[in-house]
Amino acid sequence: MPQPLADPDFYRYDANHRFAAMYPLLARQIVDDFGITQGLCLDVGTGSAAVLIELAKITDLNLVGLDAQPEVLAMARENVARHALPPDRFRFLTADVTDIPLEDGSVDLLISRGSIPFWPDHTAAFAALYRVLAPGGAALVGCGFSRYQPIEEVRAMRPTWSGDGPKDERNAWKDDGYLPRVLDEAGVRGATVRRDPYGVWVEIRKP
Ligand SMILES: C[S@@+](CC[C@H](N)C(=O)[O-])C[C@H]1O[C@@H](n2cnc3c(N)ncnc32)[C@H](O)[C@@H]1O
Repeated sequence: MPQPLADPDFYRYDANHRFAAMYPLLARQIVDDFGITQGLCLDVGTGSAAVLIELAKITDLNLVGLDAQPEVLAMARENVARHALPPDRFRFLTADVTDIPLEDGSVDLLISRGSIPFWPDHTAAFAALYRVLAPGGAALVGCGFSRYQPIEEVRAMRPTWSGDGPKDERNAWKDDGYLPRVLDEAGVRGATVRRDPYGVWVEIRKP
């Protein structure tokens, strides 16, 4: 039996969403940083599909949203309609990050925001992400907000658990040295870990 969603409001993406000011700016930042506006974009742990919806408005990308929870993907489809975007630009896949049902090297731009704290096996996850990423493709995987936002807005949006450090297990992946070790074990090349007041992100530019 599917479990009721813990936080259903989070998956309805409209102007009242608590992060409504962030998603368009994050999409703009991703396009500015990576310059990828065509091809296939995969969003892992897509949730409401808010990042994909904002990328759809400013690029020609074909968009795939993957999430482990099918109930979330039903809401993502509603959000695509709410934003009056053509449904045939989007494909939604129910799957775990470690078992992505896409071909090797098929993804030009890979995004994952806010999902990594919930992954039980980060080495297997990064190996799976790297497998589907195309040579010359780019990935942004992590947790945080857009550096195009005012920092005060980011501080107000940040969930309290993210500041609780080791008291909350959702922060364990941010420990010093953990991500470089996991990326090495997963065989990922071309990765940079970026930590700043906006969040912690892994950027991958696959050679
Ligand atoms: C906090 S939400 C973030 C949603 C969206 N990326 C955003 O920024 O609004 C985390 C999402 O990751 C998904 N998720 C958690 N563990 C996952 C896993 N192992 N594989 C795929 N998706 C996962 C959850 O179902 C949830 O929708």
